[in-house]
Amino acid sequence: MRNERAEHSAFRPERVVLASSARALDLYQRDGFLFLDSLFASDEVETLRGAIASTLEGRSERTVLEVDPAMVRSVYGIHEHEPRFAALARHPRLIAAARQLLDGEVYVYQSKLNCKAVFGGDLWPWHQDFVFWQKEDGMPAPRALTAAVFLDDVTETNGPIALIPGSHTEGVLVHDTYGGPQPGYGSAPAWIANLTAKLKYTIEKDTFVRLATTNGIVTASGGAGSVLLFDCNTAHASSVNLSPYPRTLALFTYNRVDNAPAAERIHRPSFLVSRNTEPIVPVADDVLRPTLRLPA
Ligand code: SIN
Ligand code: MN
Repeated sequence: MRNERAEHSAFRPERVVLASSARALDLYQRDGFLFLDSLFASDEVETLRGAIASTLEGRSERTVLEVDPAMVRSVYGIHEHEPRFAALARHPRLIAAARQLLDGEVYVYQSKLNCKAVFGGDLWPWHQDFVFWQKEDGMPAPRALTAAVFLDDVTETNGPIALIPGSHTEGVLVHDTYGGPQPGYGSAPAWIANLTAKLKYTIEKDTFVRLATTNGIVTASGGAGSVLLFDCNTAHASSVNLSPYPRTLALFTYNRVDNAPAAERIHRPSFLVSRNTEPIVPVADDVLRPTLRLPA
């Protein structure tokens, strides 16, 4: 078993590599994640940030509130409802990385804006994503990853995503299943337990302690425009926002086209499990530059 706790104590410049390089693939396969510093430039980030307020304003079944209903926790299905997020989901820099790391054509399985609001942005407990998609939707194999695009600067205090390097190599870990009440969520459908701070599937405590002790924990902090790519079996979590600064992330889960769940197995709504499994056709690289018009 590897012991890379010291090595993984922080993101270092060697992690800032192009997604197209063989080195990036090696790091991703070894660690279960890859950090791409400043993948998007400040003017592109501004274009994307311009889509946040209207996305948060609307209240629909795609909106998940924190226990404090004054705060939005997440908005799902953003790539199907907001042209700027639609363009980002199809951006060639993300698609090239996803195709390379998953070794095949990809489609967007799920998208969301995660807010981690100031004074109340709540935690995500330690979990793996694949177990949700396997059990809830019938995803056949762990051939999916999530790209978290930083729309704010992410620091040590505003609730960065924390990860255990190498945890993806053990497959689906021993986990606890929580089927109890979700106080604050009234009569929400059962799938709310996949989206709140009281998650349905969390990593069992002894398993977490073993892995964290052996492999260490890293947090993904960096400037707006940076991107964290992580495997669907990588153990991850995030704490509450302790700072006066928001931590808005746009997250796109890419699944391999040949790994789409059988249509008859999918019961969750389309804003949680995209029904369009056609391979993504990337848009132009400069689509988020402010002077250009977005495709309709
Ligand atoms: C996730 O686990 O899907 C997101 C975690 C976060 O936004 O901090
Ligand atoms: Mn997750």
